Amino acid sequence: MIRIPLGHTGLEISRIGLGCMGMSSAYGDSDPESCLKTLDGALELGVNFFDTADIYGWGANEELIARFLPGRRERVVLATKCGITRGATPLEQGRDTSAAYIRRACEASLRRLGTDVIDLYYLHRLDGVTPLEESLGALADLIAEGKIRAAGLSEVSAATLRRAHGLLPIAAVQNEYSLATRGGETERVIDACREIGATFVPYSPISRGLLTGAYRDSAAFGKGDFRTVLPRFSDEALRANLRLVDAVAAIGARHGASAVQIALAWVLARAPHIAPIPGTRRLDRLQENVAAARVVLSADDLAALEAAVPIDAISGARYPAALDKPLG
Ligand SMILES: NC(=O)c1ccc[n+]([C@@H]2O[C@H](COP(=O)([O-])OP(=O)(O)OC[C@H]3O[C@@H](n4cnc5c(N)ncnc54)[C@H](OP(=O)(O)O)[C@@H]3O)[C@@H](O)[C@H]2O)c1
Repeated sequence: MIRIPLGHTGLEISRIGLGCMGMSSAYGDSDPESCLKTLDGALELGVNFFDTADIYGWGANEELIARFLPGRRERVVLATKCGITRGATPLEQGRDTSAAYIRRACEASLRRLGTDVIDLYYLHRLDGVTPLEESLGALADLIAEGKIRAAGLSEVSAATLRRAHGLLPIAAVQNEYSLATRGGETERVIDACREIGATFVPYSPISRGLLTGAYRDSAAFGKGDFRTVLPRFSDEALRANLRLVDAVAAIGARHGASAVQIALAWVLARAPHIAPIPGTRRLDRLQENVAAARVVLSADDLAALEAAVPIDAISGARYPAALDKPLG
């Protein structure tokens, strides 16, 4: 697995990381023991960039990672996040990026993770109230105290990124980006990352499984699966979207690659400073996803993909209206 620099940090991350959210939340039940095997398998496959957040399973995901870290901490680049607060339901989440909250959240994450330093600490969402100077000042203090190594931002615009980087070096931006969700390009955040030397980390790079083509029936999502409320997985939208994904699969067939591998290879082909973090609980799927790094797409393939899934061609918003906020 190829490694690339993580922003200005001096750390190196695998070109494909592992999103751990689904191991404790969002997509239905999971078995922690088999997730631990997946985490272990990831390291063996050369994946060293692991992504979690305090809200995934309300601490459970960080506690799961804590079980995996002993004896492996030095080989792992560990990213977690704070800034989203618990509401009565997932659709009623709050936000807090005040200095006092960031400090409390970071110390709680360190305790749950059982480590004394977080390599990359993102503000998951800006709260829109706290001045950026205060939030980044809190991150600067945590860096000075050795509690975090570097700062990242999630779901931010190019303008906010540039302003933030003027206050504190930003190592990475984590925004949603995939063939199905093209804001990284249209909002020029990928370009802004390149300009300032930050890594762009696409989250949900296979659009929460949509681009695998494996999820063909919206009625099959169980209780507790976030996709039951996501507009692009509603019956009608899913039917329309699968026609596009099937076209991606057909392009994959030319390479002996699956739709998910082509979708990830497309993300990788966008720019060298991009490191997606597809999520999976399963080792066999991780192996499939990681193999995408070996798929080389020609200019013709890229043009065919562009034609198969043009910008804004996907039906249904990426989030329900209550969560579909503009970039911070
Ligand atoms: N910053 C943010 O606001 C934010 C928001 C969302 C996510 N994230 C991060 O980004 C990571 C990735 O995003 P994501 O998990 O939402 O979406 P994703 O990576 O686009 O898709 C994950 C879904 O696809 C399935 N899947 C993965 N590989 C597959 C394969 N080869 N074949 C069939 N199905 C496959 C997974 O199921 P199985 O587990 O059953 O394989 C899961 O349901 C998360 O884990 C999290 O760390 C960040």
